[in-house]
Amino acid sequence: MNNSEAKLEIERLSNELNRHNHLYYVESNPEISDYDFDMLLQQLHDLEEQFPEFVSDQSPTKRVGGDITKKFQSVTHKYAMLSLSNSYSKDEIQEWVTRAKKFVEDDLEYVCELKYDGVAIGIQYVDGKLVQAVTRGDGSQGENVTSNVKTIRTIPLQLSNDFPQDFEIRGEIFFPLKNFHALNEKRRESGDPEFANPRNTASGTLKMQDSKVVSERGLDCFLYGIYGADGRADGHFELVEKSSEWGFKVPPSNERYIEKTNSVQGVMDFINYWDEKRKDLPFEIDGVVIKVNNYDQQEILGFTAKSPRWAIAYKFKAERVETILEEVTYQVGRTGAITPVANLKPVQLGGTTVKRASLHNADQIEKLNLHLGDSVYVEKGGEIIPKIVGVNMDARSTSSASVEFLNHCPECNSELIRREGEVQHYCPNELDCPPQVKGKIEHFISRKALNIDGLGAETVDALFAAELIKDIADLFTLTFDDVVNLDRMADKSANNLIDGIAASKEIPFERVLFGLGIRFVGETVAKKLAKAFKNIDELAKASFEDLITVDEIGDKIAMSIQAFFWEDRNKEVVARLKEAGLQMEIVEKEGSSNKFEGLSFVVSGVFETFSRNDLKAAIESNGGKNVGSISAKTSFVVAGDKMGTSKLQKATDLGVKILSEQEFIQLLKD
Ligand code: IVH
Repeated sequence: MNNSEAKLEIERLSNELNRHNHLYYVESNPEISDYDFDMLLQQLHDLEEQFPEFVSDQSPTKRVGGDITKKFQSVTHKYAMLSLSNSYSKDEIQEWVTRAKKFVEDDLEYVCELKYDGVAIGIQYVDGKLVQAVTRGDGSQGENVTSNVKTIRTIPLQLSNDFPQDFEIRGEIFFPLKNFHALNEKRRESGDPEFANPRNTASGTLKMQDSKVVSERGLDCFLYGIYGADGRADGHFELVEKSSEWGFKVPPSNERYIEKTNSVQGVMDFINYWDEKRKDLPFEIDGVVIKVNNYDQQEILGFTAKSPRWAIAYKFKAERVETILEEVTYQVGRTGAITPVANLKPVQLGGTTVKRASLHNADQIEKLNLHLGDSVYVEKGGEIIPKIVGVNMDARSTSSASVEFLNHCPECNSELIRREGEVQHYCPNELDCPPQVKGKIEHFISRKALNIDGLGAETVDALFAAELIKDIADLFTLTFDDVVNLDRMADKSANNLIDGIAASKEIPFERVLFGLGIRFVGETVAKKLAKAFKNIDELAKASFEDLITVDEIGDKIAMSIQAFFWEDRNKEVVARLKEAGLQMEIVEKEGSSNKFEGLSFVVSGVFETFSRNDLKAAIESNGGKNVGSISAKTSFVVAGDKMGTSKLQKATDLGVKILSEQEFIQLLKD
């Protein structure tokens, strides 16, 4: 393919991918399968690598991320990003309407919208291309988070039809609840602390340095304001509708996410509807926003120092009830973390009966100054689990005792520890404290580790209670007779369980390693360790220095691995697992080695002996890393035919060594 053909093909693929992206994410009406979409994306990606001079900043390949931002640049907003004045009662809404009518001296139309609970974003488009996305910051200056925002599939990178030449669109980036729960589920599985609420997590995600992680988390966005598109429509409602023609995902009016009305009653109906229905939404809102629709009328109303007079937020009351704190109990997690739980006199809240509320940690108890028997206020706000937000002091009895945090583990009586700088108390008795032991076994058998068929948390409980298992290695000495006598265990399930345990001996080493539950060793780290050290003995012997030279293994992980193998009981469990026949070394594919360890390669162009994918696979199976673009840190560029001249120039300028295909093959052989 020559240069001009490549340029045309890149444009064609980009347009096609943008169209399919819009059909899938904005219109929920895809024309092609996910697989075909991925194939097209791969084609574009390969072509862009060959012809980097034609890669545009708006390329659909930017959706998968990869750009790293070390420090977000500060940007001054062209239009200040103000906030809304809040109201909490319908009387206040009525007062706002009366005032607005007095100013405008004419009839008003109102637009009612949802108040999405996320992070505000201002996105600038020039000539139909997304050029910049900036957070609210202090309202006059925000942070440039463009690479991260580009990964959000519902935000178009390239507009279509009759869009304004240079304008800004504002909206709210949020975490859809389904994706938020999936993320927490993953964190639970890998022993990481869960995120408390979708809003803070959306905000944290948007400021992550690695846009690839942002891409994987699945943020979404709704748009609610357009600046610099004067003359395109008379009112806000109409302009929002119009923006959907340019490619934006706008709130659907058929689901009442946005509504136009000319009466105060219409506004109140909208508020009532969503106060009731908000719990069914797939994302969180914290109220609704009422705006005067007509732009001329908005101009008459103008702004106060902080907010527009043409809009007002109605915030839903966080549902709050008062009930009695009967007792504080403590839960011990898989990692030994102690969580205090408030046991409450059962009370109705948001359609469910609440009996418990999380108290998080000792600091929280102290901050609330809790006493047993207190009458406490409980809310269900953004947090998933209800929480205690205060105490009714008038109702406190003078004889009540304050809640003192435990000194000893409620399960095994070990003295609790609290590491410096951490808020959580821990039970240090990792190997004998029942919930920690059971938690470790549950982790070992979980889907991404040994994935043992026929074995779940309930059976682990039963086996543990019957003293048939005390650690993960005991699973491999279980017999049919042992398990068939358990409660609710039929012959067939007993057989399944024994077969499942036997089959797990074929599970590859990296998953066994993940299953051991070494603190901070998640799935990815386990893979890296397996690749670097090949077998469990080498890993157990590795020095701190050996460990930290492995890509992405830092001090914290290295120390945790060493601590694990220093413990005699862990060594003994590992020896028994080995004895039982589990995979304790990596099964290498032919032709693999460690010779490219620590080296990074950029592969570009067309090759004779290798396909580009085979070449990349050869790099990885020999311990090297493939990177997308050339930097001073790149070790080698492997240059095929038709490699872009700008890439060659960049490699030469930075002094990066360029290898021909033959030279690369030689390097592989050496
Ligand atoms: S309009 C001049 N509409 O609420 C401000 N804001 O305190 C115009 N928000 O920072 C904002 N949903 O992030 C508007 N439908 C909506 C909204 C909305 C959520 C957020 C926005 C803003 C905050 C207001």
